[in-house]
Amino acid sequence: MNVAAEPAEGDLVVLRAGGTSVVLDARGAAVPRVLHWGADLGAHPDPGVLTAAPAVTPHAPDQPWPLTLVPMRADAWSGSPGLEAHRSGKSAPTILRQVATTHEANRLLTSSLDNASGTEVAVELFLEPSGVLRARATVTNRGHDVLEIAAVRLLMPLPHQATELLDQTGRWAREASAQRLPIAYGTHRRASRRGKSGHDGPLLLVAGERDFGFRKGSVWATHVAWSGDREHLVERLPDGAGPHAGVLGGGELLAAGEVRLEAGGTYSSPWVHFVWSDDGLDGLSRRLHQMLRARPHHPMSPRPVVLNTWEAVYFDHDLSRLTALAVRAAEVGAERYVLDDGWFLGRRNDRAGLGDWTVDPEVWPHGLHPLVDHVRGLGLQFGLWVEPEMVNPDSVLAREHPDWVLGPAANAPAEWRHQHVLDVARPEVFDYLLERLDALVTEYRLDSLKWDHNRDVLAAVRADGSPAIHQQTSAVYRLLAALRARHPTLEIESCAAGGGRIDLGILEHADRVWTSDTNDPIERQAIQRWTGVLLPPELMGAHVGAPVSHTTGRETDLTMRGLTALFGHAGIEWDLTTLTSEERRQLSSWVGLYRELRPLLHSGDVTRADLTDPGALLHGVVASDTSEALLAYVRLATSPDAQPGRVQLPGLDRDRDYRVRLRLEAGAPRLVEILPPSWWDAAIGDGLMASGKALGVVGLPFPVVAPGSGFLLHLTAVQPVATP
Ligand code: DGJ
Repeated sequence: MNVAAEPAEGDLVVLRAGGTSVVLDARGAAVPRVLHWGADLGAHPDPGVLTAAPAVTPHAPDQPWPLTLVPMRADAWSGSPGLEAHRSGKSAPTILRQVATTHEANRLLTSSLDNASGTEVAVELFLEPSGVLRARATVTNRGHDVLEIAAVRLLMPLPHQATELLDQTGRWAREASAQRLPIAYGTHRRASRRGKSGHDGPLLLVAGERDFGFRKGSVWATHVAWSGDREHLVERLPDGAGPHAGVLGGGELLAAGEVRLEAGGTYSSPWVHFVWSDDGLDGLSRRLHQMLRARPHHPMSPRPVVLNTWEAVYFDHDLSRLTALAVRAAEVGAERYVLDDGWFLGRRNDRAGLGDWTVDPEVWPHGLHPLVDHVRGLGLQFGLWVEPEMVNPDSVLAREHPDWVLGPAANAPAEWRHQHVLDVARPEVFDYLLERLDALVTEYRLDSLKWDHNRDVLAAVRADGSPAIHQQTSAVYRLLAALRARHPTLEIESCAAGGGRIDLGILEHADRVWTSDTNDPIERQAIQRWTGVLLPPELMGAHVGAPVSHTTGRETDLTMRGLTALFGHAGIEWDLTTLTSEERRQLSSWVGLYRELRPLLHSGDVTRADLTDPGALLHGVVASDTSEALLAYVRLATSPDAQPGRVQLPGLDRDRDYRVRLRLEAGAPRLVEILPPSWWDAAIGDGLMASGKALGVVGLPFPVVAPGSGFLLHLTAVQPVATP
């Protein structure tokens, strides 16, 4: 359909996919309006209801005002505008008029122009087959002099039922901490100025109806797919948003003067994702995970068990120690060996070496070859740690090129972990990094890179004082893309002191994220739970660490560590040369379990129960055809209840029967009871036969699990027994 100034009456634009529909009114000269985003209304939604205008109130515009795709103050929208720009303080875009709209299948492209200011904005909407809506805007300077863009926001309407919001904050080693609050009048804005999405970066900003949970309630959510500065917001005003209650969305957070368009120049916002569900957060995850899994570059090969050297040896790089570690790793069944920080010139601790991406000849007189050959000889892949965007002042690179450091030329920026940020948008820096990374990947035939980023970008200007983050972020994306173009099978892990750069922008260039620097399973359960609302398990790195956690000092048992790391792209980060034979046996048994179950773990629908007991979690995956499920029950703290009573199992098909088995390969749970529940022994043996309905509606009485322990249930559907 092509809509020019006078479209046929009655033409509403309908995008429909994955149980979702987005209905727009693109008629007339106004910028198109979203009439509905949510449940699928069918191919021919009722135009009378959808276009019904709200009442005109006292002290308001004389006509009902609609919320457009680019809401502006002149429309009567007094919230955050869709577009803020000006020409040296003049000619700010004020009144936009639609110039063209094209709608084909599930894609809509509509452009609008403010004649007076010479500003054109084109909005592109694409409804993914999974039902996730992606939106971005491109601004074009149609005037003669420079147009400065202050903000471009993609905003979708929220209904009045959305009364509560949920997002995540966090810090180093405690990412993805959920916070929940009522939606009040005003703006809930999560603005991030870290030069990366940040440990506190919301993974999803969710608005939902009262008491929504993992398995219940209507929810609307957004995610800005960008790894630089960005904002997410929920906004509600007493005047409403046209017929809607408020808006949800976000965009890139631009610094003053960051985007200046010459005549004819364009700026494209990042993609902003919008996802809706009427069955709680699990429904959001289902759509998001389906979308991510459908990407052509989504990792499809079995996710190899990783041995990462960091918490095993830290900076103590020594060939015999590292080869011994590789032997132990191969023995327990690891499949990829990642040499972490400490291998390059002068890197004996975190005070020197970043930037000098050549192998340190003092520690490695024959390069990394003896280790790489040894690891490959054991049948493992080989990966290497790098932190390309950073430089230590104590490095050859910083001494030779002090001007490559990001920040104002006149004043040295503050150090953080004894390091500065490089100006990657500077062509010499970009070329240097690409050459070094390419050389390393080529020489050692690297299977993977762990790409770290251990500080925030504070003095965020280039040498000439111009704002840096937009260009830096784009340059890093280009660098990743160029490296992958040269090495198409190279896998990249996005790490930023743990989960400091987890977003769908970086995941266009990476195959997994390092979810957190904490391997403490008690902390990890919550971190993975909330990161997993956005990301499917195969994208989240999850390692079994040492018994005493490096980040918390807490001691946990191997069963709990294994049970936690199972629900991700699993690995080990522990000095395996120190294990008892019993620990080695249990660890290889866990590796075998992961290797057996990963096809299900990495393809199924993630499910999480809404338990009333805050000290316990029940979560897992269910095969998309519901023929199989894995559910983990873990206890993080004791309960005031003497025993948990019946616990309903989430996500099962209520019309099927299942065999329920306890999988004890990761270890047995610690129980605090005289006798286990009556079904327990059957589940350890041949399995308990039960209907999905009984398991989902009535539930099984669960055992009393000690804090810091848990168990794994494996359910397989069986043919229904014919009833006489
Ligand atoms: C921070 C990462 O998150 C760790 O896993 C490790 O790679 C260190 N950096 C190395 O310096």
